[in-house]
Amino acid sequence: MAEPKTSDLMEKIVSLCKRRGFIFQSSEIYGGLNGFWDYGPLGAELKRNIKESWWRTMTRLRDDVVGLDAAIIMHPRVWEASGHTSTFSDLMVDCLLTKKRFRADQIEPQSGTAYFYAGATDSGTGKECKDAFSVLIATGKHAEYARKPARQFYQQRGIDNPALQGERTEELQNTTRYNPENGSLLTEPRPFNLMLKTYVGPVESADNISYLRPETAQAIFVQFKTTLEVSRQRIPFGICQIGKAFRNEINPRNFTFRSREFEQMELEFFIRPDEVVQKMAGSVAALSAPQPSTLTPQPNWGWELWHKYWVEQRVQWYESIGLGRDTLVEYWQKKEELAHYAKATVDILYKFPFGTQELEGIAARGDFDLAQHQKFSGKSMEYFDEEAKTKYVPHVIEPSAGVDRLALALICNAYCEDQAPDEKGKLETRVVMRFHPRIAPIKVAVFPLLKNKPALVSKAKEVRELLRPHLSVFYDEAGAIGRRYRRQDEAGTPFGVTIDFDTLGEKGPELQNTVTLRDRDSMKQERVKIGDLVSILLEKIR
Ligand code: GAP
Repeated sequence: MAEPKTSDLMEKIVSLCKRRGFIFQSSEIYGGLNGFWDYGPLGAELKRNIKESWWRTMTRLRDDVVGLDAAIIMHPRVWEASGHTSTFSDLMVDCLLTKKRFRADQIEPQSGTAYFYAGATDSGTGKECKDAFSVLIATGKHAEYARKPARQFYQQRGIDNPALQGERTEELQNTTRYNPENGSLLTEPRPFNLMLKTYVGPVESADNISYLRPETAQAIFVQFKTTLEVSRQRIPFGICQIGKAFRNEINPRNFTFRSREFEQMELEFFIRPDEVVQKMAGSVAALSAPQPSTLTPQPNWGWELWHKYWVEQRVQWYESIGLGRDTLVEYWQKKEELAHYAKATVDILYKFPFGTQELEGIAARGDFDLAQHQKFSGKSMEYFDEEAKTKYVPHVIEPSAGVDRLALALICNAYCEDQAPDEKGKLETRVVMRFHPRIAPIKVAVFPLLKNKPALVSKAKEVRELLRPHLSVFYDEAGAIGRRYRRQDEAGTPFGVTIDFDTLGEKGPELQNTVTLRDRDSMKQERVKIGDLVSILLEKIR
């Protein structure tokens, strides 16, 4: 079947998310709030499955990573130490006409004729405004297309009947100084801090300003020493956390991709500085030595190999939940793109319908964060390494992923339209969400063939109760069985169990207590014993 165009595809995905209860706009009955989203019944299960899989992989299945669940609001000095108070900003520009705000780096370059005005005089009162203004219009368009918004600009400044002064034109190429929506001049770019402010306690004064955390990472650094002591870990080891983060994004966009409230899954993995590795092991292992997929941690690893190791670990995890390597891009940031504290950063990008964009960043951050907190708090962040017999501030590798972006990537990746027969055998378009069974919101649907046969219904409910303690089950008896399959296909439920007359033994004892097990993707059905269902299904979703 032909691939839908990307904008059509995104529209279909957004509409399915709302219709089936994956994602709703927050506060929708009040017109919504830009950059905030709610997850409905299926979305909540999907997010939970993502987080559980990440947590299991990052900490439960490892000896060298422990978890943390820290407060969202922290001491404001934390953000001074981390640099967020002074530098966590995007450059923004405002439209001089509508006041609409844009991120400066998101303005597409445009070409055309710019009309410049030195000011305007009120033709009735003689009042003057000497503010300069300009408008960009397509070359060849009538000057009135520039003059009209220019008059509006001066009217907003108290010149009721503006006579425009000093009009001149200039051809401009690839300029980003004008609002792409109306051609009006933009303000000069200026920094806008992305942290959301609040006040702690009853007094709204400068002394009580706090911030909703813009990342979960800093709590891990701040609790490094305490976590180390209680967990009795030794370097190299990591602390991971899942939690909400908030950023007052200038332009939230692409559905949930860039939101103002979102969840992060972050690991800070603490390692020895290269000098210490060198001293202990004689040399630091060369980056080129082993193949990434066979990397097994070694005592002679420096930051470069640890960094490579974590990139590979993370890609393997994405594969395990259904995002194949062909859907991902590993982008190694160029030197000039790196944050000032980063030695290297790899972004894992996903090929979204609206472009190839970041899912996760894996940064080698040196000792920047711990050293900053040591300086600002006056508390030592040094670690005494028993093996190396030396003290140092550990270095860090940080894989940092977004839950919401990943949920969106998984939804985009799962969306599929194919052809399936309807009740009468006629082919119709079927929308099917091909989630990997591991992260599918509902794992199995249970259907009695007919709703008005009490024996079928009671057997189906028995099967539901049998499965429920082990996996998420959805029971559905409403409508024709084909319709019920379609509804579950759209929800991405990988397996369907149907209780029919054979189950009741009507065709003989050999089929009694067997059911059909339908596979969402192949639509094939096999007959299995009820007694084997739990183990068969658990094996399939493992
Ligand atoms: N501690 C490092 C850090 O926060 P980041 O690249 O700013 O790094 C990490 O964020 C991840 O958090 C991103 O890769 C993305 O998945 C997610 N994220 C960041 N800003 C987001 C936003 N406005 N909306 C949704 N997810 C976001």
